[in-house]
Amino acid sequence: MKVTLRAEKWVNNGFSLGYLNGDTYFITGAIPGELVECDPVSITKKFKQVKVVSILEPSTERISSDCDIFLLCGGCSFRHISYTSEIEIKKNLFLNEFNHKFPESKLDFNFIQIIQGNDLHYRNNVQFKIQDNKKGFFKVGSNDLVEFPKSGCLNLPDEINYYIKKINTETKKEGKLRLTDSVTDYSENDSLFILGDKKVKVPKNGFFQINRYLIESWLEEIIQFLPADNLDILELFSGSGLISLFIASKCKSLTGYELESGAVYYAKENAKENNMPNLEFHTKNLYLEKISVKHMNRPLWIMNPPRNGLGNLILEQIKIYKPEHIIYSSCNYISLIQDLKKIMSDYSVKKATIADFFPRTPYFETLILLEKN
Ligand SMILES: C[S@@+](CC[C@H](N)C(=O)[O-])C[C@H]1O[C@@H](n2cnc3c(N)ncnc32)[C@H](O)[C@@H]1O
Repeated sequence: MKVTLRAEKWVNNGFSLGYLNGDTYFITGAIPGELVECDPVSITKKFKQVKVVSILEPSTERISSDCDIFLLCGGCSFRHISYTSEIEIKKNLFLNEFNHKFPESKLDFNFIQIIQGNDLHYRNNVQFKIQDNKKGFFKVGSNDLVEFPKSGCLNLPDEINYYIKKINTETKKEGKLRLTDSVTDYSENDSLFILGDKKVKVPKNGFFQINRYLIESWLEEIIQFLPADNLDILELFSGSGLISLFIASKCKSLTGYELESGAVYYAKENAKENNMPNLEFHTKNLYLEKISVKHMNRPLWIMNPPRNGLGNLILEQIKIYKPEHIIYSSCNYISLIQDLKKIMSDYSVKKATIADFFPRTPYFETLILLEKN
């Protein structure tokens, strides 16, 4: 059943909020201030998600979307406002959440630095579905396919869009493609990324940062966050060693821990290939297994966990070992702030940067430097 709502404010996940008869609705495709008519997406007692089908009173901020399947495919949340507005929204979402949780150490709008790039064609990888000879993404909350627009997905490089068009749809149910110097199926092949003078090899199905325009600026920012040269560093969730390789020349030693043994294997190979004998890597499930005490005594910890955040075991170790500095990069500002809640009594935020790795989607990367009080 359609509902008419006044969109009130931006919240997490690209939603704006609307209220009706005592219920709160999470709206996609509206802009705060607008009066909109919406169709249900998923309605339960606890969570009512709707999407805009017509705009009764448009905002002056509204622009027309450049994608035919915007709001159908669920990948993007912000194709109806300018990219400048999107950046402001993301910055405010992080700030409001942080300042709400830490009123005693409020951050100022100008304190947060922004790293942003081209908002089109930025993704170096894609995972998509194939059904009835059609290729596309699943609709939000369903297994129904929304076919890619004829001209391809605007977040993907031309090379990947072109490759998708040529794929034989009879033999596959899904596609996993990655762009390095050419497009490959990363469920079958390793990938080699060349970033400046560094070579970074990633195993098949292995993690790699997806914004091809911003990876180096983000790594440069991490270097700027280093509190001193020549430190012994502990890195958690080190993947195939991307961060490690870029800070190797600035540190005395770095020990990385990571769950995936294939990634750890390549992190070691990458250290050898790039001539960095001061890097070492270990396989460990950091949510369940403790790491060696000699590594926890390091003065700087660098952490880049998955969306769920650090996990209780690491948070407990931080409370015990209290490293002098922590650099924490997260693709989920909500779990980042939840984690900070458990350790902030011992730390202050010295620097914070948002790297907009995922333009037009609700996601962004937040990088912070903490110093022990
Ligand atoms: C956001 S990625 C960061 C990787 C690396 N920093 C990079 O930039 O390529 C998070 C990493 O955490 C790893 N990971 C996920 N769960 C883990 C766990 N329980 N213990 C250790 N590592 C884990 C993933 O395999 C992935 O490599």
